[in-house]
Amino acid sequence: IASQKAAAQTMSSPSLTMAQDELKKIAAYKAVEFVESGMVVGLGTGSTAKHAVDRIGELLQQGVLSTIVGIPTSMKTHEQALSVNIPLSDLDTHPVIDLAIDGADEVDPDLNLVKGRGGSLLREKMIEFASKKFVVIVDESKLVDYIGGSGLAMPVEVVPFCWKFTAQRLQLLFEEAGCVAELRTCPETGDPFVTDNRNYTIDLFFKKSIGDLKAAGDAILRLPGVVEHGLFVDMATVVIVAGDGGVTVKNK
Ligand code: 5RP
Repeated sequence: IASQKAAAQTMSSPSLTMAQDELKKIAAYKAVEFVESGMVVGLGTGSTAKHAVDRIGELLQQGVLSTIVGIPTSMKTHEQALSVNIPLSDLDTHPVIDLAIDGADEVDPDLNLVKGRGGSLLREKMIEFASKKFVVIVDESKLVDYIGGSGLAMPVEVVPFCWKFTAQRLQLLFEEAGCVAELRTCPETGDPFVTDNRNYTIDLFFKKSIGDLKAAGDAILRLPGVVEHGLFVDMATVVIVAGDGGVTVKNK
């Protein structure tokens, strides 16, 4: 399972270069400026959010932040946060989160998102739903004209039971958008990728826009077998974009 998670993390950023990683770090550091001592903070997953977690750990160690409580969005982030001595809790104990910081795979002009190419969309959605403020951090390659516009995957977490049935129904649902549904597998083994919640992921690829995103998300959730989808509609409060021209802060 550990190697599956590593594979999925790599899949989310297939063409990461040093320059891109530097942009991710700039966006992450900017977002951490929103963190104040005493806050309950949602800790995102992925190569961009990793920089934010490291930075929070560093500020705690330096005493710039006196204390925070972190709520990690994946097992991987849980381990990373512990390694930099961030005190952790969970949603059951802290059902209201002050601020969540996380990356995204696509950001449209209305600040709607695709998330989950890194394999953690369910915990991310639960924690970001519970957050008073959700700060998204991306390099400019994540900006799209419309959701699905990158041509890359929009993930859906499904139960393993009869996943082919669920994949077929998902593909049918978006037939008009030329949808292709694929089970996510581990590149090394070819086995299904298993999420932290022991589910599978179906990646949807679209040839055209899927139109009304809220309606699309609701239709996906009505399918038996679906656990959650990677459309994050109207959830981001702030999007921080780092590009060659500098940092842009977009407010909802
Ligand atoms: C994980 C996610 C990530 O936030 C998303 O995949 C972006 O990852 P990265 O910062 O590595 O580009 O949704 O489930």
